[in-house]
Amino acid sequence: MRFGQFDDENKEYVIHTPRTPYPWINYLGSEEFFGLVSNQAGGYCFFRDAKLRRLTRYRYNNVPTDDGGRYFYVKEGDTVWNPSWGPVKTELDAYECRHGLGYSRITGKKNGLSVSMLFFVPVGKTCEVHAVTLKNESSQKKSFQLFSFLEWCLWNAEDDMTNFQRNYSTGEVEITGGGQTIYHKTEFKERRNHYAFYHVNAPVAGYDTDRETFIGLYNGFHEPQVVLEGKSRNSKAAGWSPVASQCLEITLGPGETKELSFVLGYIEVDKSQKWESKSVINKKPALDMIATLDSKAKVDAELAKLKDYWKNLLSGYSVKSSDDKLDRMVNIWNQYQCMVTFNMSRSASFFESGIGRGMGFRDSNQDLLGFVHLIPERARQRILDIAATQFEDGSAYHQYQPLTKRGNNAIGSGFNDDPLWLILGVAAYIKESGDFSILDEQVAFDNDESKSKSLLEHCKRSFDHVLHNIGPNGLPLIGRADWNDCLNLNCFSETPGESFQTTENREGRTAESIFIAGMFVSIGPMYADMVERKGDKAEGERVRNEVRKMERVVLDKGWDGDWFLRAYDFFGKKVGSKGNKEAKIFIEPQGYCVMAGIGVASGEAKKALDSVKEYLDCPYGIVLNNPAFTEYVLEYGEISTYPAGYKENAGIFCHNNPWIMIAETVIGRPERAWEYYKKICPSYLEEISDLHRTEPYVYAQMIAGKDAVKPGEAKNSWLTGTGSWNFVAISQYLLGVRPEWDGLVVQPCMTKEIAEYKVVRRARGATYEITVKNSGQAASAKLTVNGKPIEGNQVPYAPAGSTVSVLCEV
Ligand code: BGC
Ligand code: NOJ
Repeated sequence: MRFGQFDDENKEYVIHTPRTPYPWINYLGSEEFFGLVSNQAGGYCFFRDAKLRRLTRYRYNNVPTDDGGRYFYVKEGDTVWNPSWGPVKTELDAYECRHGLGYSRITGKKNGLSVSMLFFVPVGKTCEVHAVTLKNESSQKKSFQLFSFLEWCLWNAEDDMTNFQRNYSTGEVEITGGGQTIYHKTEFKERRNHYAFYHVNAPVAGYDTDRETFIGLYNGFHEPQVVLEGKSRNSKAAGWSPVASQCLEITLGPGETKELSFVLGYIEVDKSQKWESKSVINKKPALDMIATLDSKAKVDAELAKLKDYWKNLLSGYSVKSSDDKLDRMVNIWNQYQCMVTFNMSRSASFFESGIGRGMGFRDSNQDLLGFVHLIPERARQRILDIAATQFEDGSAYHQYQPLTKRGNNAIGSGFNDDPLWLILGVAAYIKESGDFSILDEQVAFDNDESKSKSLLEHCKRSFDHVLHNIGPNGLPLIGRADWNDCLNLNCFSETPGESFQTTENREGRTAESIFIAGMFVSIGPMYADMVERKGDKAEGERVRNEVRKMERVVLDKGWDGDWFLRAYDFFGKKVGSKGNKEAKIFIEPQGYCVMAGIGVASGEAKKALDSVKEYLDCPYGIVLNNPAFTEYVLEYGEISTYPAGYKENAGIFCHNNPWIMIAETVIGRPERAWEYYKKICPSYLEEISDLHRTEPYVYAQMIAGKDAVKPGEAKNSWLTGTGSWNFVAISQYLLGVRPEWDGLVVQPCMTKEIAEYKVVRRARGATYEITVKNSGQAASAKLTVNGKPIEGNQVPYAPAGSTVSVLCEV
């Protein structure tokens, strides 16, 4: 069942009902100011860091779900309604939510009145615009009230949820223009040089800033007493919970329209200029911001700017084929999700609270892969920020906070795959941009500038960290965990509530990961390429030798007969082997080892992928392991705590499915790769939205696997490495256009269902117009560049500004 439809022309998903199977959300903002908005106007916003600089409050895990947002209430006579349907839930005559790129528009109609709310963050500004269009579509004059409402969060979202004894007494606001502008200035007089405000560009009949007064202590968002009574009380918050609500009295003749622009802004002021006079905050920067958005014309211009911004970004890679579902994912939604994950990492979604996690070291490096072609300069900065949290021995904090850019000690370190992802991120950036100078940048260790070394040296330490941590079989030690955060082979936890990721209660130098070995073989040569290009042949040779050695070890100690083993545990026993009772086979090493080319020539690769098909594939995607764990295995950690079929225990963990797609292209099997692509790609799942539940325009982290209670049900949409890896798989390996060090490789491995397609790819300032005539025989591509046949599959980079035409015949 569908709950909406794609509007490709406008790059929007159009939701037809507020009663989606789960709140279907969108993100606002792309640089510093971010918001989340659901199809019922639920959500919140923050400046840079969802934990440390939260602007509006949100209630997680609440009943009803999706509680708190930017609400507009209409009161006409005795009827009170929201254009977003919730929270009041008065039945609407019409409802539509359009989620677009960086904006959402929700329109509700009731009794001939149409109210449309457009939410977006203007490019380069630290505010949200809520542009409200009211239209009287009836033949009678209408008089009604419009109430705005949002609730301030007291900045630190975690403290805000826990420290009531203090926070109920700190809230402060200032009110100007009879409530036209409400300033939230809690803690401003002491250590904060920032405040927020909510403004409307029209006279107001009243306002409220105290939540209890507005809603009523025993009422909910669905029955605010001020709205029910139709009269603001002009309350001034003193402690408790500050909110911002304005009331506008509106009369519209038949057919008449009124446009309002509400601005929710965030302002930082210089310490020396905080005050206008005693206790009166300096409002100049807020007024300047408001002045840029105080008319419909200005708001329209900002929206147009935002649309242009996206149009330009998305012109970096586009495909035109006979399959709309493919085109809309590649051209619009997959790239959009990559931008969102690049910005948010795993911090703020409707499944991530924004207070638990900062930016992941491994996550952010992988997110880069799907983002780097959009704005390479931002990827560059991100790499330098990540690298600066690395330790001198090459290991890394598992996460860091975006506001401070410092490693987050609470989450710990010692995830032994982390360092290698840095090399992958750096290589992707250089291949995209050609900017080798990044390798010479001096970058701190553990944010200590006195310990700075070149980024190339950071990469070396990443590589060597593996070599310094080799186990008894010659394979890399896993440490706390590898990519699979829940395979905790040195953590024997029997204490409820203990964190599997930070508890390491055995001193182990035995548990080894075949997955990290695969990464080492795949990613190590990228570091060799870099040093060789910097002129250090000897180092390149050393690296290649180590990689060759590891490859042999994988085939010798990491092969189980029909697939690659997953690991060796603390006791030196095999994990992911035929001899195991449960979880005899895991997906990760099959993907990464084949991507690394291990066993391609000698046949293990094909065998491993056939085993994936046989044991791990199911109608909804490829599960992580099989059979699922049904018992707690003390020496494996978190993985077996999940019920069968969920998350890391035999869920379809969508992040690693594209590794198998890519692996299938490595051995030249386009039909398999395509089948796997379609199984988890959201646009192909639109018709089963009732089962899938999460948004049909973005990937979810996890789909319940074949052993689950409800196979096919997705969770944790939006913030997942799935976004970038699927984009890499489809754009670089199936459609087959991939930046390499010296040229754009064109090497399709695409289903014969798509007999012809065109890719337009921007790279290093030049544009490549690539036509692929596809027979589905991946092995035999012939390239013609600007009319001349060339040898091989690499189109040399052309000067910036030029257009290169490529014909690829497969
Ligand atoms: C999740 C992982 C996550 C880990 C640590 C697990 O339950 O599945 O994705 O990294 O917890 O928070
Ligand atoms: C989500 C985490 O963010 C990621 O780092 C990890 O690799 C996967 N879960 C698998 O555990």
